[in-house]
Amino acid sequence: MVAGQPEMSFAGLLRQLRAEAGLTQEELAEAAGVSPRSVSNLERGINRTAHKDTAVLLAGALGLAGRVSEVFVAAARGRALAAGVLAARDGAVAGAFAAAATRALPRDLAAFTGRQAELARLMGALAETATSGGVVRIHAIDGMAGIGKTAFAVHAAHRLTATFPDGQFFLPLHAHTAGQRPVDPADALASLLLTAGVPAAAIPPGLAARAGRWRDHVAGKKILLVLDDAAGHEQVAPLLPGTAGSLVLVTSRRRLTALQDAAVISLDTLPVEEAAALLARLAARPGIRAGDAAVGELTRLCGYLPLAIGMAASQLRHHPAWTAARLAADLAAARDRLALLHAENLSVAAAFNMSYADLTGEQQRLFRRLGLHPGGDIDGYAAAALDGTDLAAARRGLEALYDQYLLAEPAQGRYRLHDLIREHARALADRLDPDGDRDGATTRLLDYYQHTAARADALIARQARPGPARVDGAVSAAVPALAGQEQALAWARAERASLLACLDHATGPASTPGSSLSPPPSPGCCGATAPGPRPSPATRPRSRPHGTSATGSVRPAPSTTSGPPGGCRTITRPRPRPWSRPWASTATSATGSARPTPSTTWGSCDG
Ligand SMILES: Nc1ncnc2c1ncn2[C@@H]1O[C@H](COP(=O)(O)OP(=O)(O)OP(=O)(O)O)[C@@H](O)[C@H]1O
Ligand SMILES: [Mg+2]
Repeated sequence: MVAGQPEMSFAGLLRQLRAEAGLTQEELAEAAGVSPRSVSNLERGINRTAHKDTAVLLAGALGLAGRVSEVFVAAARGRALAAGVLAARDGAVAGAFAAAATRALPRDLAAFTGRQAELARLMGALAETATSGGVVRIHAIDGMAGIGKTAFAVHAAHRLTATFPDGQFFLPLHAHTAGQRPVDPADALASLLLTAGVPAAAIPPGLAARAGRWRDHVAGKKILLVLDDAAGHEQVAPLLPGTAGSLVLVTSRRRLTALQDAAVISLDTLPVEEAAALLARLAARPGIRAGDAAVGELTRLCGYLPLAIGMAASQLRHHPAWTAARLAADLAAARDRLALLHAENLSVAAAFNMSYADLTGEQQRLFRRLGLHPGGDIDGYAAAALDGTDLAAARRGLEALYDQYLLAEPAQGRYRLHDLIREHARALADRLDPDGDRDGATTRLLDYYQHTAARADALIARQARPGPARVDGAVSAAVPALAGQEQALAWARAERASLLACLDHATGPASTPGSSLSPPPSPGCCGATAPGPRPSPATRPRSRPHGTSATGSVRPAPSTTSGPPGGCRTITRPRPRPWSRPWASTATSATGSARPTPSTTWGSCDG
């Protein structure tokens, strides 16, 4: 019980708050969007607790914000004292609570693994600004859903508590919480002020006044503020302290490019060894070790994404009869891998969905269609063909997805989906787009590649051929202007993986599940030669998974033979059609510098 407050039931609390708000039961019910009976049953104590959703709605209708709203929801669910809500609202919180509120970090993870380079960067930057002084230090920690932003920020904050003795605050801004809207900055400020011990009566109305009050309250102090899951710079900017000495860590799934003076730490997928170590630690079973091949395979199938690894580990922990090898095999064979990656009511797909929900309708359509791309990375031209739009619109769309960490940009103007995000996009396309729509998108893409490959092929060729490559023919998409051999080669080099993936798609066997566990490549279509075999995971000369340089596609290096690369085989194939030589000859000629294209190797490949 909170000191100084009488025992109070939730029913009594609700009656009191409603009366203070000047609402009848019906008005409260209407404002909250719940039934009058729900309100009546709660007020009469017939229902002693409420569902979380109902509680959140009631809190909103009663005008409760931030910390007060949180305590109200907890009280409605029987997890906090009703009197605590009034105490929080009035700022008359017992001394112990007030003291604890300025040490308000969530607990650090016992199993926190890796991220040493990022931690060192953060500490190094702090040490540097400590000597130069003069500014509030702001670090934006960004990355895709489930990459470990919150875990990292909290871990770093715990390491820094001694440097910020005047308080450590953690404020969830809920940009991606199911059933919640992003926190309004004015509510966020009220919450911070209450948490810092400012009485409710001393909190002014209005954003600007509250921001001023907050800056005044923390002026000259050394506080550490973690703003978790920010929606954008507009939400964050009013919460920043105004004087030097404090540190703000902002986590976000968005690139907060407009947040001035923020240093950025972008989190990537975990390196191979750290991913395996994390899985073994979280599974916490004697027979499961980081060095096991099955553990390595499992983490690969989890895209080296901590969220997915945590879910796989939790399944192993709670099913002692399961083996890592069997779980990996199940994941590899699953038609929808994401459907298997869940724990309790959490799932990787749900986390991705929250990012998808942020997109406009056009961006969502582009995202789904990108999931249809057979593999490799993609530029604006190919995206325009896939999406049936013009180049400028495609580039805008790609950039928007990049800003939301739904795409990585491994090279300028070239974008790539993380393996699991690709699966998600494809699953959404399967679910939401009619067959004809998907086939149309894939056909436009293949037409675009074929047309442009033919043009590049004609420019690259140095020796006479029996017949000229066809470069005419209508293609509805924008195509790059290839002015000469040099540009044609550059294009072919950049598109090599995509061309071969599309060649495989256009000529390969019908789709089968488990795209990322492709068997070793088979000899190429029409005798296409491969520059080299696909290295096995064990022999790959790198510690970070291939292609994870930005935010981490984990697709293996694309085979240059015609074995179906990851992602290719679950795509609905367009109608069978002849595919002519330029596809493959352009792709193989791009492997050497202007190597003469074999002129007679390629026949037509009927799909
Ligand atoms: N370095 C790590 N060591 C141990 N566990 C980790 C690490 N990084 C992340 N995790 C775990 O992975 C899961 C996802 O991490 P976290 O919630 O921090 O991701 P996030 O990037 O903040 O996701 P979101 O975008 O949804 O907010 C959590 O269960 C977290 O505990
Ligand atoms: Mg988070």
